[in-house]
Amino acid sequence: MASFADRYGPLAVVTGAAVGMGAAFARELAARDVELLLVDRDERALEACALELDSDGATVQTLVVDLASPDAAGEVCDAAGDDVGLLVSNAAIGYVGSFLDQDTDGLLAQLAVNCRTPLLLVHRVLPGLVARGRGGVILLSSLSAVRGSALVASYAATKAWNLILAESLWDELRDTGVDVLGVLPGTTRTPGLLSSSPQAGLATANLMDPADVAREALDTLGQAPSLIPGEANRESHAFLSSLDRAEAIRTMGDVMRATYPPDREPDPSI
Ligand SMILES: NC(=O)c1ccc[n+]([C@@H]2O[C@H](COP(=O)([O-])OP(=O)(O)OC[C@H]3O[C@@H](n4cnc5c(N)ncnc54)[C@H](OP(=O)(O)O)[C@@H]3O)[C@@H](O)[C@H]2O)c1
Repeated sequence: MASFADRYGPLAVVTGAAVGMGAAFARELAARDVELLLVDRDERALEACALELDSDGATVQTLVVDLASPDAAGEVCDAAGDDVGLLVSNAAIGYVGSFLDQDTDGLLAQLAVNCRTPLLLVHRVLPGLVARGRGGVILLSSLSAVRGSALVASYAATKAWNLILAESLWDELRDTGVDVLGVLPGTTRTPGLLSSSPQAGLATANLMDPADVAREALDTLGQAPSLIPGEANRESHAFLSSLDRAEAIRTMGDVMRATYPPDREPDPSI
């Protein structure tokens, strides 16, 4: 049986790789003997992550780039060259709060990082994978992508876009040897999640470790069009899916309002 590196090597590109889920994907890929191009705008954290992997024997390059910029996908692909076997499109801009309070520049940057750049990356990387007859693409979506989700309206919509792109390509490319997977994490302990100051409750009850999300995603690549990591998240998804859609959206909104009340402080219990 072909090893993971035989299927998806020699080089994986991971965006948003400095911390959180991206760094977890990088560690898990290094453990599977895949070389890495780690992409992020946070130079210091990116170098720290690369140094850690390098000292463990991985082959790592880094690229500091603002993924909101119009040329970002081209810069990433130029740096990666012809050896890409796997793209993990992970970077995203989160925003929690009233949609009306999100300013236009913030909305457009979110759209660029969460949708525009991933679209161009996928479009540029796929021809090489298809020509080689093997490889993979992982697009990070979110459990918030499945139905309307108050306080993250625009973010959730960008995540729905990633889910549908991934699942559509999974089927469209199924005879090419190229695997595509959409990943829908629930709340996961990352710097991005913690910086939103969630309050302990239903939304944080199933808080996952990023390493577990990355491992489950890489194990599922090639097996399914999409994945909700974690049994508890799959159960809460099944429960919400059993409700009338309006009731499910309102229930989700109630959970969001309890998790993110106005004037909240970081919750030390998380
Ligand atoms: N954590 C969760 O609970 C959760 C749940 C569902 C889905 N997800 C998805 O999982 C993925 C990873 O989330 P995470 O929580 O690990 O995120 P995170 O902790 O916020 O880390 C994201 C990384 O991407 C970088 N990044 C953001 N904007 C960038 C830009 N314009 N250019 C270059 N790099 C940029 C960030 O840099 P800065 O620190 O400088 O911003 C950071 O290093 C995202 O797609 C997210 O939507 C997360």
